[in-house]
Amino acid sequence: MATLAALETATPHALFRLPYAEDALAPIISARTVALHHGKHHKAYVDKTNELIGGTEFEGQALERIVLATAGKPEHKELFNNAAQAWNHAFYWRSLKPRGGGVPGGALAEKIEAMGGLDSLKKKLATAGVKQFGSGWAWLVTSAKGLEVLSTPNAEVPFTKGATPLLTIDVWEHAYYVDYQNRRADYLQAVIDKLINWDFAAENLARA
Ligand code: FE2
Repeated sequence: MATLAALETATPHALFRLPYAEDALAPIISARTVALHHGKHHKAYVDKTNELIGGTEFEGQALERIVLATAGKPEHKELFNNAAQAWNHAFYWRSLKPRGGGVPGGALAEKIEAMGGLDSLKKKLATAGVKQFGSGWAWLVTSAKGLEVLSTPNAEVPFTKGATPLLTIDVWEHAYYVDYQNRRADYLQAVIDKLINWDFAAENLARA
């Protein structure tokens, strides 16, 4: 869980600061999409989380702990959704980088090779994102089973089920609709080829 701890934020939870300019992901993801996605959608999840935890047992807890404590609990559904979305988005922004894509190195490359190679992994990631019905996330994770590609619906995040996320791609419509309209597959392909931050995934694997 060291990886997750590294992404914890202080309470009240602050909006994750983008490690690049809003226009740095263009033309794959436009500055307008980043401004809306980060400045409106992501911010709303953080703000709502802070509002919901005020005066509760969750005040002062790290985001990751709130997500773990509320997962699968109907009475905490709203807090889970907002806290998990706050976490997922911070992880998503770090899963991308300007002039990303390319090929991973080191131990991550070896593990990817062992599971069928990079082209196969990229196809699995794209397929997971395309096939996620409705809103959700495509993930590369590591667990006792090794590397795995999966998708989750809505705000669900794999670490509540014991898998450590290595990278994620947001497939909610707000992530791509301004730039790609309904063409989710085109968004996924462009992100995987040109923005994925394999170094971030490798760092997460090293800490897992
Ligand atoms: Fe999003």
